[in-house]
Amino acid sequence: MKIAVGADHAGVELKNVLRDTLIAAGHEVVDVGTQGNQSVDYPDFAHAVARAVAKGEAERGLLVCGTGQGMAISANRHAGVRAACTRDLYDTRLVREHNDANVLCIGARVVGAALADEMVKTFLATVFAGGRHAGRVRKMEEPS
Ligand code: RB5
Repeated sequence: MKIAVGADHAGVELKNVLRDTLIAAGHEVVDVGTQGNQSVDYPDFAHAVARAVAKGEAERGLLVCGTGQGMAISANRHAGVRAACTRDLYDTRLVREHNDANVLCIGARVVGAALADEMVKTFLATVFAGGRHAGRVRKMEEPS
């Protein structure tokens, strides 16, 4: 799978661990940064990953910041992007099965690395259930 990954300074360490695991598992990863510990603005990286997903340049996105929340709010400004900030495996499975989320946002100050790794695996492996959920997901793009 082609996956775009990004993080701010609070998430860079976890992002790098998850990125390397994805590459080792055979995924094609586009890393939009950040690469160092210098303070940066999370929307810059959220928008870069969201653009890649919205344009179809990546099938999924992974964003890491302190809480994951700022990344999700920013990424969700892009049409066609369904970013979900999750904290556990149940949430992560359900945002795929019911909401067809295409960007996973993780809070590095909230979720440990081992759980984050399992969450990413769950996010990539879980298939959208479709059926009654398909119409609801379509309505997400019709806010008025
Ligand atoms: C950075 O301090 C922090 O605000 C950011 O990583 C994130 O948690 C925002 O949502």
